[in-house]
Amino acid sequence: MENLVKGTKVLVVDAAHPDGAELAEAAQVLRSGGLVAFPTETVYGLGANALDGQAVARIFAAKGRPQDNPLIVHVADREAVSQVAAVVPPKAQQLMERFWPGPLTLVLPKTPEVPEEVTCGLQSVGIRMPSHPVARALIRAAGVPVAAPSANLSGRPSPTSAEHVIEDLAGRVDVILDGGETGVGVESTVLDMTVDPPVLLRPGGVTVEQLTAEIGPVNLDKAMAGAAPGEKPRSPGMKYKHYAPKAPLILVDGPVLAMQAKIRDLSYEYREEGRRVGIMCCAESRGAYQADVILEYGSRAQPETLACDLFATLRAFDRHQVDVILAEGVSTAGIGLAVMNRLMRAAAGRVVHV
Ligand code: TXA
Ligand code: MG
Repeated sequence: MENLVKGTKVLVVDAAHPDGAELAEAAQVLRSGGLVAFPTETVYGLGANALDGQAVARIFAAKGRPQDNPLIVHVADREAVSQVAAVVPPKAQQLMERFWPGPLTLVLPKTPEVPEEVTCGLQSVGIRMPSHPVARALIRAAGVPVAAPSANLSGRPSPTSAEHVIEDLAGRVDVILDGGETGVGVESTVLDMTVDPPVLLRPGGVTVEQLTAEIGPVNLDKAMAGAAPGEKPRSPGMKYKHYAPKAPLILVDGPVLAMQAKIRDLSYEYREEGRRVGIMCCAESRGAYQADVILEYGSRAQPETLACDLFATLRAFDRHQVDVILAEGVSTAGIGLAVMNRLMRAAAGRVVHV
């Protein structure tokens, strides 16, 4: 099935059987230097041939992405790793065996084949092997490694459905492969393997607990959650405005009852001022609030459900046209660390601790 939106081809693919004409067409677009958005198990990516500097430069233009924020190179098999990584230390090898294909990006020294457009001049490159059948089939069919950031306009929440990609990028890219909703919902974990112990640059789909169980201690990048102002981020992407819905988001964090009380107070105050208030909360606290729009996005007891619907919920508040969003904090255990990191960044410093 095919459909044109503002000049961008939207091709629907069957995620369970990703073969056929749509995939071949998208692969051809990649090989000839074009841009293809495609689903991965984390979020949709915006892909270009990673070995073609000019094609990669188009990604930055389409997204409005800052020129110093490097891209992740996606591969379909282990052979392709040696094409882009100059060295693979034993711990990286171990992590690939345990977590690939899956939501883990490893930062390794790059080969000269990787153009500077991908790494923004860094000598290292982020590499991951996605597990989504459409992503894998596309990379295989293209026959080249695929550089891909999340397929959103820079600064917006990452896309977890083709509709989100169309919202942000229709008219700016050649093809959007619609393979349905993604599963994990937050992006891959980014781990710097050029140092030992490795440094966590971005929490994501593979948890810190899973990493340390496999390779022992992992250091947390001090600038990661904006924890240390003035600290130079090692992952350039961490310093920019991110995941922002249109209305300002205020993150309230602390013990559940205190957090609920604070959100109730703030909701009351803002509504008294005539503002339209949105609340973003776990299913467990749905009944604790009154507001203009209340969106629950999963269960505190199953944080992977929070990760799955996080970005779609942030985008949903735009449609509800609220003036302010009050969001509950979540536990940082497991994938909760990634959810909290995205909420902190969506809040851009507007965090209330109770
Ligand atoms: O799940 C994901 O990782 C998704 C899907 C599409 O694969 N991709 C994604 O890409 O989230 P992006 O560009 O939105 O985020 C990439 C992150 C940025 O924070 C960037 O700074 C960091 O990875 N990064 C990439 N290469 C790096 C490098 N050589 N050194 C340090 N950080 C790097
Ligand atoms: Mg992104």
